[in-house]
Amino acid sequence: MSVPVDVLQNALMGLRPLAKLAQRYHSTGLNADPDMVSRVFNLYSRFASMSGKDVLEIGPGHTLEVLEKAKAAGAKSCTAIDVIDYLSGEQAREKQIAYVVYDGRIMPLAAESIDLICSYTALEHVRYPSMTIQECFRILRPGGRLVSVIDLGDHSWYGENTSCPDRAFHCLRYPEWLWNLMRWNRSSYVNRLRQSDWIRLLTETGFTVRAHEATVSADTVRLFSQLHYLHKYQYDDAVTCVLTVCMEKPALMRNSTEGYVVMAPSEAEDTCRAYLPITPEV
Ligand SMILES: C[S@@+](CC[C@H](N)C(=O)[O-])C[C@H]1O[C@@H](n2cnc3c(N)ncnc32)[C@H](O)[C@@H]1O
Repeated sequence: MSVPVDVLQNALMGLRPLAKLAQRYHSTGLNADPDMVSRVFNLYSRFASMSGKDVLEIGPGHTLEVLEKAKAAGAKSCTAIDVIDYLSGEQAREKQIAYVVYDGRIMPLAAESIDLICSYTALEHVRYPSMTIQECFRILRPGGRLVSVIDLGDHSWYGENTSCPDRAFHCLRYPEWLWNLMRWNRSSYVNRLRQSDWIRLLTETGFTVRAHEATVSADTVRLFSQLHYLHKYQYDDAVTCVLTVCMEKPALMRNSTEGYVVMAPSEAEDTCRAYLPITPEV
């Protein structure tokens, strides 16, 4: 699609009635597919147990079934938070899930009220990533975890049948001001943070990395020498297409002289680091 058409579509999606109409046709990803729901739930469970926890999912889209599974696995409470009301409060209540719709900035949730935050292909869509991560840190209890799968690719071609091996990161060709003019109001908007940006943002906010898994785009590795717009990035940032992280808000430990001090993550739990070896080909 051409840049002027993208800019026009984005401007039209800034009109609320049109945006509401388009929302009906969004495919948000899992779309309650039972196999995918099980896979995502199992992935979260690799990093944190749900039992007895207050669990929050960021950006569930149409799919509350992952949280339903968390409830069945013993979660104390389940909350979903999204910027778009893909579901009604009634549908969520039937599943015993609290459903919060907000403007994507401050989360209307109490500080230190959540033990586990999960998100699946949602963080790449947030318009204010720094604020979202600070909010995650604020609402998590000390020792609480954030488990997130972040799809770092361009979403413009998702849902189409054509394969675009050279376009996995096409969105990175545009300067930020133009990208925002093309996508800000659209569900295919991605904030384009690379994996090192996410790790930096999360650790600078105060999180400890418990697990960090990177999946590399084989097409991009193969075509890297031709994709000149990617050469300004560190190689692993340029070719990583999915980032899975488990981050922990450090627990507090009572210290008789200084009050509470930050405690390092427990050594008892393994820190899983399945970071693929990456070598540039240019
Ligand atoms: C690609 S969909 C993924 C939905 C679901 N996790 C799935 O995999 O089916 C991205 C979701 O993130 C939501 N989203 C975007 N920005 C958000 C924000 N700041 N806070 C919470 N959700 C957000 C979108 O409305 C959408 O529901």
